[in-house]
Parts: sequence; C-alpha cells; structure tokens
Amino acid sequence: MGREIGIGLLGVGWMGRLHSTSYLRVPAHYPECPGRARLVVAADELESRARSAVDELGYERWTTDWREVIADPEVDAVSITAPNFLHRDMALAAAAAGKPFWGEKPLGRFPPETAEIAAAADEAGIVTIVGLNYRHPPAVQHARSLIVGGSLGEITHFRMQFVASYSANPRGALSWRFLRERAGLGILADLGSHAVDLAQFLLGPIVRVTATTSIVIPRRPIVAMGEGTHFSVVDEGAELGDVENEDWAAALVEFERGVKGTIELSRVLVGADARYVFEVNGTEGAVGWDFERLNELQVYSGLATGERGNARVLMGPEQPEFGRFQPGAGIPMGYDDLKVIEAKLFLESVAEGVQREPGVRELAAAARVLEAMVRSTESGTWEEVGTHSP
Ligand SMILES: NC(=O)c1ccc[n+]([C@@H]2O[C@H](COP(=O)([O-])OP(=O)(O)OC[C@H]3O[C@@H](n4cnc5c(N)ncnc54)[C@H](O)[C@@H]3O)[C@@H](O)[C@H]2O)c1
Repeated sequence: MGREIGIGLLGVGWMGRLHSTSYLRVPAHYPECPGRARLVVAADELESRARSAVDELGYERWTTDWREVIADPEVDAVSITAPNFLHRDMALAAAAAGKPFWGEKPLGRFPPETAEIAAAADEAGIVTIVGLNYRHPPAVQHARSLIVGGSLGEITHFRMQFVASYSANPRGALSWRFLRERAGLGILADLGSHAVDLAQFLLGPIVRVTATTSIVIPRRPIVAMGEGTHFSVVDEGAELGDVENEDWAAALVEFERGVKGTIELSRVLVGADARYVFEVNGTEGAVGWDFERLNELQVYSGLATGERGNARVLMGPEQPEFGRFQPGAGIPMGYDDLKVIEAKLFLESVAEGVQREPGVRELAAAARVLEAMVRSTESGTWEEVGTHSP
C-alpha cells in the first residue's frame, strides 16, 4: 500500500470525471505506485454536478465553493479541471497553500497566465503534472525513441495536424470554449497546447514561428454554463452569440535543431473527427502516428529484403506502459488509459516529492511558442519564441 494522498477536485465535467476514475484505476495498473488516492472532496459551481461526485465517483464530500477544497486540511493535492478562466486563480491558490496539482491544459487563458502559474508553482516548490496526455501513447514514446536513437538518420521534415470536428456543426453550443473571457485563446490553446508540446517532445525546442488564424463559424447558439459542452448541439431558433477566438490556425515552425515543419489546428473540420497526426522524416526513415489509430506506428525503413517500405507496427507489451494495460500485442489501449498513466505520474510525484514531466514548465514552454504564434498573426512575419522565465 502506498502513502494515502487526499485528493480535491476543482470542476466535475468531462476532465474532472476522468481524473477521478483515473486516480481509482492506478492501483490496478501500477500496484507498486508509492501514492494512493483518497477522493476527499469535489467542487463544481453546479450543485448537481458537485453532488454527482459523491454519488457516482466516490468522493466523500462535495461543495460548490472550490476555495473550500484547497483549504480542506484533508486535501493534500488537487486536480484542476475547471474551464480555463479559473485555472490561474485555482493554481495560484493551490501553490499558496503548498498543495501540488494535476492541472489540465492550457492552464490559463493566455500564455502570460500560464507563465504566471509556472512561476508560482516553481516558487512554492510544489510538484505538478499537466494534462498533456498525447505524450503517453506507447506508439508516441516509441516514435520518440526511434528519433532520439538515430534510427531515422538526420531529421529533415516534420508535419503535424491536430484537427477535429467537435465544433463543426454551426448549431454547436457557444460554450465557454468560444469566449475570450472564459477560454482565452481558441484552438491555439485547446489543441495547440497539445500539438506544440508534442512537437517539442519529439524534436526539441521550437525557436521561430509564423502563423495565421481564422474564425470559420462566427456565431453560435448561446447556452448557460454547465448546460452544454462543446459537443452539444442546440435546437434551431436559439439566440446566437459571437465566437470570440480562433477556430483554425496554421503555423510554420523552426526547431532549434534546424528542421522546419508545419502545424495545423482546427475544431471545425468536417471530415476528421480527432485527426491528431504527425509524421517525422529523416535521411534513413520516417515515423507517422494517428491518434485515431492510437496503438499503431507507421515506420518507414529498409526491409530485410533490401527494399524500403512502410510497416504498420502494432504496439505490444515490449513497449513501456503497454503491458500495464493489455497482455498482448494488438489489443488496443484507449484514450482514458493515457489519463491513468498521468494519474500515476502525479501520485508518485506527490508521494516522492519528485518533479516529473510533463509539469507546468513544459506547458509554459509550449505557451511561449503559442504566444509567438499570436504575435505572428498580428505582425504578419516570423517571430522568435521568447525565452522569458521560468
Ligand atoms: N487533456 C485533454 O485531452 C483535455 C480534454 C478536454 C478538456 N481539457 C481541459 O480540461 C478543462 C475542463 O474541460 P472539460 O471539457 O472537462 O469542461 P467541462 O465543461 O466538461 O467541465 C468543466 C466543469 O467546471 C465547472 N465549473 C465552472 N465554473 C466553476 C467554478 N467556479 N467552480 C467549480 N467548477 C466550476 C463546470 O460546471 C463544469 O462541470 C479545460 O481547461 C480543457 O482545456 C483537456
């Protein structure tokens, strides 16, 4: 049995529920994990959602006031799973109370808020883990090890798309995600934080960017907070409000290692539901990954016959983490499993007091790249990625 860690939950939506179930699954997949979650108290501003944390998720108590969660002496660590406009206040309060947090991306509405959160966590000396879950698929880890190990030769090309259809319906609700006051940036923060982090995880720091954005669906039906998610479709006739942040973005990026590449982001693309893909090409081979085929890595290399070709490589227990979830190659892991890996990283970090990756530093590094992309949309030219703290 690991050390008991009292967990407080800030926001009982999609991610709040997934953090909770993930904490509970950790002992089944990682019995040796030195930390074990005790689900103490959950907060949501909607009472029905807060109550559901007790009735459905196993929390001991609920509240509608998130500050009570952080102040609770039985809470050792918190999950920040509320909308972006609350991230800053929640993270700064957790840091001030000396309580480690597992925070959902983008941690803040705009890059300066992410930087402020990272600085506060650093100063308080608390450990953090962030929801950059696309680092965790075994196929992504394998791709990185092939890149780092030199199997692809010298890297020459990089292409990435994080494009989705989740808001492609014009009758999709004007949830908090479309409002600058509530969400901050649009797709740049929502999928862009994942994409930029993954790009840097694979190929190292991005140093220069140029980018452009657009709002493809300018008006959407208004819904009350908590009544609809970005997946909800509202009946015709509802009052419409303005979409205030970008639906689509595209960037050229230049890595410190000299490689240039492309990143495209969208939340309104008909024809791709969750197409989160990358391809990295080197002088000796290439790798390609597609989130919709989570367990497969496309590997281009020399074949035993002396020819060259693409192989569809299925992950199996020989890949790190895979064997924690499935006993044999070809049996698929899923999205929720990535959050169990993250929950394990957080619990072991808290139990041992050791910072692991990805934490707020990695998220702040991605935010600096996003900030340069925003500057580029205004200046119309290439922008250097800042190196300010932390
Ligand atoms: N890592 C990922 O893959 C991933 C996926 C989805 C969302 N996210 C991130 O997770 C966060 C939450 O997104 P979601 O999809 O779960 O949203 P959601 O709308 O499903 O849930 C947010 C919850 O926060 C609650 N809330 C609002 N105001 C509150 C307050 N003052 N106090 C307490 N609770 C409050 C809402 O009522 C709602 O229940 C966002 O920052 C988002 O970017 C990450």
